Amino acid sequence: MDHSFVNPSLQILKSGLALERASSKHSVVSLLHAFDGTEVIHHRLDKGSRWGISPDEEETERLEAVYILSGKLKMKRSTEETTLLNGDFLSGTPINEYLVLTALEESAFLYITSKPVFHYYSHDTRNFEELAIKIEQKDGYTADHCSRIKDLAMLVGDKMGLHSESLMKLHFGALLHDIGKTQVPEEILLKPSKLTEEEWAIMKLHTSYGAEMLRETCISHFLLAAEVVEQHHERYDGSGYPRGLKKEEISLEAAIVGLVDSYDAITSERVYQHARSHESALNELRGLRGIKYQPDVVDAFTDVIEHHRKGGD
Ligand SMILES: [Fe+2]
Ligand SMILES: [Fe+2]
Repeated sequence: MDHSFVNPSLQILKSGLALERASSKHSVVSLLHAFDGTEVIHHRLDKGSRWGISPDEEETERLEAVYILSGKLKMKRSTEETTLLNGDFLSGTPINEYLVLTALEESAFLYITSKPVFHYYSHDTRNFEELAIKIEQKDGYTADHCSRIKDLAMLVGDKMGLHSESLMKLHFGALLHDIGKTQVPEEILLKPSKLTEEEWAIMKLHTSYGAEMLRETCISHFLLAAEVVEQHHERYDGSGYPRGLKKEEISLEAAIVGLVDSYDAITSERVYQHARSHESALNELRGLRGIKYQPDVVDAFTDVIEHHRKGGD
């Protein structure tokens, strides 16, 4: 993409205008200026939404900086948590670590980088997210399934004290867990009756297909997430697929997504199945603690759901 704009001595963007803008339901990313590979990007995050930085694969020197304009954000750096407020500034050349920022209230910040990233944000990442949402809808879920899985998984990850790299892996793994279903033929995906053994074998391949799709991108947070996507149907006792991994062979992030996805499947109203109550879902999943699901994950999940249902933040 060509970033060379006519180069006026002064460029003014009035009233929140931007050169380009990419929005999702809970965030708006606006490109304010781009020149010679450097970009100034404005981010607005709704309460509860997240943004992150991954280390640069190529490890090239570049300026990277974040300046908080308003709101309140929690920053996770490794296992350390810091609150960021208006006027706080982070920078590096580059910031070569995983940082996860969560908006504790509606927040805005500037991100300045001397390596152009805007188009990769607005196209590659969002294309994958949109694809993931579309495929879940085809599979009989409502549009919110992916973001519900992601939000619940991140609450469990926070509860378990995961470090920032792990949270990044969990975030994208949860959001994109079923992206491989885009490669499953529609006559199988949309079949109203029971799948034959052969069809079911193809359906199960969505785990490996999804991991391949992410690995092909060579984008660092997608590379991390590939393992979660590949393993989200593995089960603690080895009864899952595609490889029948057991216990600690399954990555913790995949174990979290596997449990949260099962919970959402039980409690969602779908074309061929009525939603069951949260209590009934939780009882069933707790009964499978240490059988299908990793015990620590079940415990953290139970705490999160109970806190949530009591109306906690
Ligand atoms: Fe799946
Ligand atoms: Fe799912």
